[in-house]
Amino acid sequence: MLSIIAVLAVVVAAQATPAPASALDIDFDVEFSIPAVHNPDYVRNGTAAMLKAYAKHYLTPTREMPEAFMSALHKRQDGSVSAEPSGGAEYLIPVTVGGEQLNLDLDTGSADLWVFSSLQPASQRRGHAYYTSSDSSTYQALSGSTWNIQYADRSGASGVAGTDTVTVGGTTVLGQCVELAKTVSSSFVSDASDGLIGMAFSNINTVRPQQQRTFFDNAKDSLDSPLFAAYLPANEDGSYDFGSTDPSKYTGNIQYTSVDSSNGFWEYSTPHYKVGSTIYSQSGYTGISDTGTTLLLMGDNAVDNYYAQVSSAEYDSRQGGYVFNCSESLPTLSISIGYLNFATIPGSLLNFAYIGNGQCFGGLQSVGAGGQNIYGDVFFNANYGVFDASGPSFGFAPLN
Ligand SMILES: *[C@@H]1O[C@H](CO)[C@@H](O)[C@H](O)[C@H]1NC(C)=O
Ligand SMILES: *[C@@H]1O[C@H](CO)[C@@H](O)[C@H](O)[C@H]1NC(C)=O
Repeated sequence: MLSIIAVLAVVVAAQATPAPASALDIDFDVEFSIPAVHNPDYVRNGTAAMLKAYAKHYLTPTREMPEAFMSALHKRQDGSVSAEPSGGAEYLIPVTVGGEQLNLDLDTGSADLWVFSSLQPASQRRGHAYYTSSDSSTYQALSGSTWNIQYADRSGASGVAGTDTVTVGGTTVLGQCVELAKTVSSSFVSDASDGLIGMAFSNINTVRPQQQRTFFDNAKDSLDSPLFAAYLPANEDGSYDFGSTDPSKYTGNIQYTSVDSSNGFWEYSTPHYKVGSTIYSQSGYTGISDTGTTLLLMGDNAVDNYYAQVSSAEYDSRQGGYVFNCSESLPTLSISIGYLNFATIPGSLLNFAYIGNGQCFGGLQSVGAGGQNIYGDVFFNANYGVFDASGPSFGFAPLN
C-alpha cells in the first residue's frame, strides 16, 4: 500500500476550458491512494445494471427486453422515490468539497463533478450528505452557469455551477468547478452516492455556457505522474491510486494502449477477444473503460460466441440478458485492449448475480446496436486499470 503523502498540491483551476489551468505549480512528488469503499447496500441486479448502462450511454437493444425495461428506458420518470435496487454505485470514494465530506461515485464515463446540495428539495436529500455553498467561505458562484446530465430514461441530474476547494486524498484543487444539484431523479435519490466525480475527458463536461475542466484535468500536473489507477476487487473495498501505480495490487507488467479522447471517453481499439483459447475478431468496435458502469457490454456476436460455450446458457427476455445454470462454470474471457494485449476475466467473475431457481445472470451482456463496447466494473474486478493522461493511454494488469 502506498501511504498518503501529507503534501498539498495546490492547483488553481482555470475558469475556462480548454485553456490550461494557471497552476500554482508546487513541484513535490505527489502520489496517494484513496479507498474505494464497496457499498454494503449494493444489490447485484442484472436487469437494473443493464438499464442504467443503456440509459446512460443511450444504447439501443437488439434483443427482446422486459416490458418494464423498455418502458423505463423510454418513459419520463415521475420523480417518485423507487424502493427497488437502482443499479447504482458499487464503490464510493471520500471527497471533500468546500469542507463538506461527501461519498462520490468515481465515474470514468462522464466528466462532471456534481454533488447533492441544499438547493434540492429536502425529500431528495434524505439519507445523503450534501453540500451547502453558503456554509463555505471559499465558494464562488459561476454566474449564469448551469449543468444538465440526462440519461435516455429521463433520469439524470441538473443544477447550477460554482467553484470551491476540492480535496481527493493528498491533492487539493482550489477553484475546482463544483456542480450543485437542484434536482436529481429517483434513481440517484435511492443510490448511496452523494454525487459523481467524473474522470472522463473535459470535452464532455456539461456545464454551459462555459464548459469546465474535470478534477483530474486540474490536478494531473501536480501528480508525480499524470495518472490514476482503479483497483476494484469483486465485492470488496478497493482503491484509486493517484500519481503512481501500486505494484502490490497487480501481477506482471502494465500493458498500455493509446486512447482516443475525441469522444470524451477513455476509448481504444479492441479488435479481438478470446473465449477460452478460441480467438475471434470483432471489427467495427472500440472499447471504453467505464468505472461508472457495472457490467461488461459487448457486441452480440461476442456475447453469442461466449455463451455458445456454456451449455446451460440461454437468452432470457424476462431478465434482458443471458442466464445460465449457476452450477455450471463459465469459460475465461479475454479482450484485446489495443491490438496485442489481452486482458483476462476469469469465468468466476462473469457470474454476475443469482436470480433464483438455480439460475444466474451473466456479467457479459449485449451492448445493443452500438459500436462501442463498455468495459465496466466486471473488467476491473479482474484487472488493475491505469488512466494515464500522458498520451493519453490506458493500461491494465491482472489483479494480484
Ligand atoms: C431488478 O431490477 C429491475 C429493473 O429495475 C426490477 O424490475 C426488478 O424488480 C429487480 N429485481 C429484484 C429481485 O429486485
Ligand atoms: C443445474 O445443474 C445441476 C447439475 O447438473 C442440476 O442438478 C440442476 O437441476 C440444474 N438446475 C437447473 C435450474 O436447471
